[in-house]
This record gives sequence, structure tokens and C-alpha cells, in this order.
Amino acid sequence: MTSARESAELVNGRRGQFGPQNSNPGGITLLRERFSCRAFLDEPVSEEALKRILDLANRSPSWCNTQPWTVTLVQGESREALVSELLAAARDSQPAPEIAVPERYEGVHQERRRGAGYALYESAGIERSDTDARAAQALRNLELFGAPCALLITVPRYLGPYALVDVGAYLSYLQLAAQSFGVATILQAALAMHPEAVRKVVPLPADEALVCGISLGYPDLDHPANSFETERNQWSMGPGGEWPLQ
Ligand SMILES: Cc1cc2nc3c(=O)[nH]c(=O)nc-3n(C[C@H](O)[C@H](O)[C@H](O)COP(=O)(O)O)c2cc1C
Repeated sequence: MTSARESAELVNGRRGQFGPQNSNPGGITLLRERFSCRAFLDEPVSEEALKRILDLANRSPSWCNTQPWTVTLVQGESREALVSELLAAARDSQPAPEIAVPERYEGVHQERRRGAGYALYESAGIERSDTDARAAQALRNLELFGAPCALLITVPRYLGPYALVDVGAYLSYLQLAAQSFGVATILQAALAMHPEAVRKVVPLPADEALVCGISLGYPDLDHPANSFETERNQWSMGPGGEWPLQ
């Protein structure tokens, strides 16, 4: 078990030494190796590991240190109930997310979106024209890709868009914290498309909006859905930007 002291160290943090002589190869590896896991082993994540992950993720920055995220753990019977409600909702109703989703993707955004989708289909042996197989793969989202548990992330509605920036930062911390304990993750907006189904199973706060879910577990690294890597564009400065900046 985590001792009270270890736990306090994770929550309170410790300021490391910053400077060119103090780069952190462990941190670099963590960032390079993170990926969205779409097939998990049938192996639970212990309560202790989950608590340590949440302790560490709480080190995330937020505007004025408001820490506006609420995290709800779903596992065991509630996990099973959530999956069956989500599958039924996807079959019987239209998506009604509480956070606005993009109406369309344009230009490079659409290209990158397609690229990620095609890479997944290719690795899973799904023909681009096979709409049934693509739909079945998409439904795997609602089965949490086999993960033993998920966290649902909500945010107070009254705080507006900047709270979503805070949540984004938090989610990255959560993913990297999990990975540092050997636990793989995937962020899933797909789990927020039918909030009424989620709220039937999980008593999420009424004055908070469901942003997304994040499934967690030990990765099935031999599964085809985990065999591809998404590409990244070289970063660039905004229009007129120069390097080095003057
Ligand atoms: C806010 C957010 C929502 C996402 N929702 C989903 C989702 O519902 N289903 C899914 O398969 N991947 C989802 N992803 C994962 C992205 O597809 C993935 O991060 C991206 O393709 C880059 O791949 P990588 O995470 O493996 O580097 C989501 C990512 C983010 C940041």
C-alpha cells in the first residue's frame, strides 16, 4: 500500500532542479511513448494504482488553481451497466452531447482526422469501404475497448470555455500519470455523446457538463488496434512568425 507520506508527496509535489544540466530522460520517454490504447487486457487496475494516478494527475495546472474537473470512476457492475446503456442509446437515439461538437472539419484538420481513422482501419484489417466493419469498430468505444474501468470527466457549466482548457491540461496529466504506473489510457469523447444514458447509471452532478471519458487498463500490445502510430506535423509559427523570434 502507498504510505501516507508517499501519497502526500504525490499530492503536494516537490520542486525539482531546473536547468540545462537537468533534463529528465524519464519524462521524455513518457511523452514519446504515450498512445491511445484501443484494446485492453482483462486485468483490473488496483485501487491503490488508481489513487496514485489521481494523486499525480492533480498536479495539473488550472486557471487560478480552480481545479474545475470532477472525476467519477466507473468499474465493476456500474461499468457493465454503462456499456449496455451506451450501446442501447447508440442504437435507439441521436447523439445529444452537453459540450458542443464541431459541425465540420476543414482542410488540414479533415486530412489529419481521416489519416488517423484510415491508420486504425488499416491496422485492424478493415477496408475503407466496409461501413459495417467501421461502425462495429466505432462501437468498441462504447465497450471501453475492453478496459476494466473508466473515468468520466465533468466540469461546472457556469465556468465556460476556459474550464475546458483546464480539463484538457488535466487529461494530459492523467494520461501521463497513468502511463508512469504502466497503465494505458484513451480519451473518449464517444462516451459523452449520450449523456442521458450515462446519467441513468452514474449520478453525475446536474450542474456539470459531461466532457468525455477516459478508459484505463493494461494494454494488449499484440492487438492490431494498438499496432499503428498516429503522425504529427512539424510545429510551425503562426502567420508572419519567425524563428528565432526577434
Ligand atoms: C478530447 C479527445 C477526445 C477523443 N475521443 C476519442 C474517441 O472518442 N474515440 C477514440 O478512439 N479516440 C479518441 N481520442 C483519441 C484521439 O483519436 C488520439 O489522441 C489522436 O488520434 C492521436 O493519437 P494518439 O493519442 O495515439 O497519439 C480523443 C482524443 C481527445 C484529445
